[in-house]
Amino acid sequence: MLCMVGVVGLGGCRQWQPAPGASPGEDLYRKNCVTCHGVNGGGADGPSLIAREHSPDEVAAKVKSGGSGMRSFDGELSAEEIRQVSEYAASLSRPPK
Ligand code: HEC
Repeated sequence: MLCMVGVVGLGGCRQWQPAPGASPGEDLYRKNCVTCHGVNGGGADGPSLIAREHSPDEVAAKVKSGGSGMRSFDGELSAEEIRQVSEYAASLSRPPK
């Protein structure tokens, strides 16, 4: 296979993997949310998450329900994972202390 002959060094055959996050929540965010909401929550294919402040509960409700253009992560992520990723995503929308 092409993958075995030399392309590996360029990462050509490996799937793109985000760098691991510093916390479980950040890790989950990078894996599941960045393509649409951007690394820092500033938005990409989806809207900015930092344009206004979100509470973790508010984010969790959205992650569970999905919406127009955003799929539901209910069942895909465990309740614990939803809590972690929502806390992280909500923290992006809060001004740094
Ligand atoms: C396929 C693209 C996509 C992915 C992946 C995605 N979102 Fe979204 N998200 C959207 C779109 C589009 C909207 C706006 C439309 C809507 O409300 O459904 C949105 C809306 C939101 C909102 C509401 C924003 C507001 O100000 O009202 C939150 C919070 C949110 N997403 C969090 C997340 C989190 C956390 C993840 C990862 C678990 C995630 N999203 C993954 C596309 C995405």
